[in-house]
Amino acid sequence: MRVFSGIQPSGNLHLGNYLGAIVNFVSLQNKAECIYCVVDLHSITVWQDPNKLYKNIHEITAGFIASGLDPNKNIIFNQSKVKEHSELSWILNCVARLGWLNRMTQFKEKAGKNKENMSIGLYTYPILMAADILAYKATHVPVGEDQKQHIELSRDIAQKFNIDFKDRIKSIIQKDEFFILPKPLINGPVPRVMSLRDGQKKMSSSDLSDMTRINILDDEDQIYNKIRKSKTDSDVIPSDFLGVDGRPELKNLISIYAGVSKQSPEDVIKEFGGEQFSKLKKNLTDLLISEICPIGSEMKKIISDPLYIDEVLSDGAERARTISEPILAETKKIIGLA
Ligand code: TRP
Repeated sequence: MRVFSGIQPSGNLHLGNYLGAIVNFVSLQNKAECIYCVVDLHSITVWQDPNKLYKNIHEITAGFIASGLDPNKNIIFNQSKVKEHSELSWILNCVARLGWLNRMTQFKEKAGKNKENMSIGLYTYPILMAADILAYKATHVPVGEDQKQHIELSRDIAQKFNIDFKDRIKSIIQKDEFFILPKPLINGPVPRVMSLRDGQKKMSSSDLSDMTRINILDDEDQIYNKIRKSKTDSDVIPSDFLGVDGRPELKNLISIYAGVSKQSPEDVIKEFGGEQFSKLKKNLTDLLISEICPIGSEMKKIISDPLYIDEVLSDGAERARTISEPILAETKKIIGLA
């Protein structure tokens, strides 16, 4: 079992990253060989301020460590330091079909009506993601629910490669298959954390309003204000989880509470059933302050030592390369490039 996953350094590390991915990363570190990547090349598919990008890469890395990922046990690095990702990505561009990419819902959502004006990188983004995973022959990929389609695409690409080059694979490595078909692991405590202002939208670092998300670096006042002003409806809280249907903002607050307190949403709803939103909000605020603020303080400590973070990243890149270099070399040999 080899685990690979990535988070974009496109802004603040937030509760969606934490509950949807990082908590899961931490629990996997004792069960498998894990490779966790700060996917900086993915982040530049939309404009990133060059003065902030490096800082963001550092912050995500600090967030990984502050959340409990051990940089010795795991491989932690940033994508642009290992050129194999880009090189394999080009080869996979030539394996994947246009029709497959045209089905990707994330691109459609991000581009909206403005498709003609998006970067080509945003469109081919899932191919680079497939390269990230396949360059390590990762078997499992912990992600949020929204990334499932991209993992399926990675599987399709791996499978097409294995079929297209079947004979070469057989003669060069004496196996029937070269790439491993990766499986998504969607069992983070909250697979989809939503915006605090719109229960239908994912919590995201690219949302223009900071009030839509809880950042790991937020202080107590910010958390207090954001939860107090989070969107709700005017009904009381039901005592059964079925009752949250059609009430996305309530569902989101309950899910966040459950995720952070390590309880099931059913238990949380029992606790707050029949109450007003104000009680849920007050308790959620206290819970977030006691669970998230300490991670934020630890993160700040780590951020204040940029040399240490650089060391973690270059050591990680070196270890990553020892895995991906031979896999890329074999890939090239199989297709007749070397
Ligand atoms: N696309 C992922 C996201 O936005 C990030 C990502 C890039 C990733 N490469 C990956 C996740 C490889 C898992 C594996 O969440």
